[in-house]
Amino acid sequence: MKIKECCTVESQECIAKGIYSMWISTKVIAKEAKAGQFISLFSKDGSRLLPRPISLCEIDREGGRLRIVYRVAGAGTEEFSHLKAGDEVDILGPLGNGFPIEEGKGKRVMLMGGGIGVPPMLEMAKQLNCEKQIILGYRDENLFLRDEFEAYGEVFVATEDGSVGTKGNVLDAIREQNLTADVIYACGPTPMLRAIKEYAAEKGIKCYISLEEKMACGIGACLACVCKTKEKDHHTNVNNTRICKDGPVFDAKEVVFA
Ligand code: FES
Repeated sequence: MKIKECCTVESQECIAKGIYSMWISTKVIAKEAKAGQFISLFSKDGSRLLPRPISLCEIDREGGRLRIVYRVAGAGTEEFSHLKAGDEVDILGPLGNGFPIEEGKGKRVMLMGGGIGVPPMLEMAKQLNCEKQIILGYRDENLFLRDEFEAYGEVFVATEDGSVGTKGNVLDAIREQNLTADVIYACGPTPMLRAIKEYAAEKGIKCYISLEEKMACGIGACLACVCKTKEKDHHTNVNNTRICKDGPVFDAKEVVFA
C-alpha cells in the first residue's frame, strides 16, 4: 500500500559525474518496498507540482531506510541533489509492481542494467540467492556502483566508448562472453530493452524488463508513460498500459515496442 510520508535524508553523495546516491530514513515505505519498485519525491518548489519518480537502489527493511541513485536531469533532480543529512523530503511510495523475484529462485539468472537502469539491479542482486551473472552497461569509464555488485555475483561491463570491458552495450558483452541464463531481469534505456526482448525471444529465455525510463509523474496523472501491450487492458479494453501504474516491470513478451 502506498503512502505519502515526510522522510529525513540520512546521507547524500555524488558518486559519479551527475549521479547522486541518497539514503533516506522512512517510517513505513522502506518496510513495504520491493526490488524494482520506485518512489516519487516532491519538490519544495510549488511551481513544479508533479513529483519525480526515482527507482529504489537498496531497501533496508530492518533499518527503515531506502537508497536511491539517480541522475540529475532537470530542475527537480537538481533540487534533490542539494539535500543534505537531516533535511526533510516528502515521498510517495512504494510505487509500481516490482520484479517477480520468485521466478529466478534456484535458476541461472542474468541481471542487466544500462545507465541509470543500473541502480535497481543492486537490490535484485542482493535478494536473489542463486547463480547470478551481472551485466552492466555504461557510457564511459564512470562505472558507478560496479564495485558494490561484485559482492553478489560475477560482473561483466560494457561501455559505449570502449574505455572499460566490452565496447558496446550489455548484449555485446553477453555475446562476447558467451553468457546464458534461464531468467533475465533488465532495466535501462528503451533501445537496450527492445534488443534484450528480441534476444530473449530468440533464445527462449524468460525475461522481465523495467520500463521506468519513460516515466514522468509516476502517479498516473500525465499519461506520458503509456506503452503498447499485446493483451488488452481489462479496464479500458485497449492495448495500452500506463507504465507507472501497471509496471514498471513487464514480462518482455507482453510489451510491444513502437
Ligand atoms: Fe505520468 Fe505514468 S508517468 S501517468
